Amino acid sequence: MLKAAAEHAQEYLRNVNAQPVAPPPDAVAALKELAGPLPSEPTNPEDVLELLARFGSPATVANSGGRFFGFVNGGCVPAAMAAAWLVSAWDQNAAMRVQSPVAIALEETALDWVRRMLALPEGCGGAVVTGATMANFCGLAAARHALLERAGWDVENDGLFGAPALTVVIGEEAHSSLIKALGMLGLGRNRVVRVPVDGQGRMRADALPHLNDRTILCLQAGNVNTGAFDPAGAICPEARASGAWIHVDGAFGLWAAVSPAYRHLVHGFDLADSWATDAHKWPNIGYDCGIALVREPDALKAAMSIQAAYLMQGEQREPSHYNPELSRRARGVELWAGLRSLGQSGMAEIVERTCSHARRFAAGLRASGYQVLNDVVINQVLVSFGSAEKTLRTVARLQNDGTCWCGSTVWQRHTAMRISVSSWATTEEDVDLSLQAMLKAAAK
Ligand SMILES: Cc1ncc(COP(=O)(O)O)c(C=O)c1O
Repeated sequence: MLKAAAEHAQEYLRNVNAQPVAPPPDAVAALKELAGPLPSEPTNPEDVLELLARFGSPATVANSGGRFFGFVNGGCVPAAMAAAWLVSAWDQNAAMRVQSPVAIALEETALDWVRRMLALPEGCGGAVVTGATMANFCGLAAARHALLERAGWDVENDGLFGAPALTVVIGEEAHSSLIKALGMLGLGRNRVVRVPVDGQGRMRADALPHLNDRTILCLQAGNVNTGAFDPAGAICPEARASGAWIHVDGAFGLWAAVSPAYRHLVHGFDLADSWATDAHKWPNIGYDCGIALVREPDALKAAMSIQAAYLMQGEQREPSHYNPELSRRARGVELWAGLRSLGQSGMAEIVERTCSHARRFAAGLRASGYQVLNDVVINQVLVSFGSAEKTLRTVARLQNDGTCWCGSTVWQRHTAMRISVSSWATTEEDVDLSLQAMLKAAAK
C-alpha cells in the first residue's frame, strides 16, 4: 500500500506543474464519486487509494507546484514531505515524552533551531502547534496569565469574571487570526485599542496609547497584504520599560531574520515577550506547522498545563503542558527534517529568492502600466489593474486560466490582487509564465 501511495504521489508531483493551478470545475464536480453513504461492508484499501488518486488528485489546488500565489501558502520541501510519510508510519502521539521520546526530542531541537534562526533570546520556551492562529493563541494566553498573576489574579482557575482589567493594544492592520485568538481567550475581539497605521500598514509609534503593566501590546512582523513590519525598534524599548507584555505576530515576516539582506526588518522584535510564527509558510515545512515562543516559558506552562493522575507531570518538558492539545501529531519531526535539510543558508536562500521573485512581479506589472500599491519589502505584492471591477475581473480570469492563482483583497479602500511568493518551488520561469498570464487576463 505504501509503495502504491509513493507511486501515486510521485506521479502527482511529476505532473503538478502541468495541471491547472485551481482544479477545473469538472474535477471538482467529480468529487461526488467520493461522497454517498458509508459502505456497510469494508472496501479493499488499495481500491480506496485508487479512488483518491482518480478523483482526489485532479481536484487539488496545485500548492506543491511553483505557481500558487494565494494567501501566504508555502510548499513542502522534500525532506519534510518524506519525513511526514515516516511520521505516519511511526504513528506517534506527541503529547508526552513517554509516548514518543523521538517526537519530543526532535520537537525540542527544532524549537531551539527556530529560536536561533529568528534571533530570539536564549531561554525561550515554546510549542509546536497547527499554525500562527494557535501560536498567537498560545502567546496571548501566556500574556494573559503573566499580567493577571502580577495583579494577584489566577485566571486559569478563576476565569475572567471579576478579574482586573487588561488593555489590549493592536495595530489597525493586525491580522484577523490575532483578533480571533483574543476572542477565544475572552479578551474580546472588539475590546482593543487600535493604533493608527501608515500607508504600508505599519503601526505608528507616535500614536501609541499609554502603556503599563496591565497592557498587552501586539505587534506585527509582516503584514499579510503588504509584508510591512511594525517599527519594533522604535516601540519595544519603551513598551518593555512600561511593564507591558509585547506579543509579536510574525507568521511569515519573522523569518526575514535568517537573511543578512533582510535582517534589518526584524530589528527590535527580539525585545518582545512572545512570538507567533509559521513553519508552513516561508520555511515550506508542509501543513500544518506553527510555532509559539515565549521568553518566560513558565507563563506558557501556567496557561496550558494539564493535571490528571494518569498523565505525566514530568521532570522534563512535556509538550502537553505547553500546548492547547493533549494528543497531537508529531509535526515537530517534519519541522526538524525540513530545517535540517535546509540549514540556515537554505532558509536564507528561500527568503531571498522569493523576495526577488516578488520584485520581478512588481517590475513586470509596473512596466505594463499597472499600479503596485505597496513597497515590495519582502515577498508580498499588491497590484491594481485600474478600477475595483477591472481588478476583480482580472483576478477571476486569471484564476480560470489556471496558469497560476492569485486572490484579491482590499487594501486601505483600494481593491487589489495579492501576489504572495512563498513557495520554495517557484522558479523565475514560473514568475514569467505567471506574469504573461496576468497581463493577458488584464488586457482582455
Ligand atoms: C500575519 C499573519 N498572522 C497570522 C496568520 C494565520 O496563520 P495560520 O493560517 O497559520 O493560522 C497569517 C496567515 O496568513 C498571517 O499572515
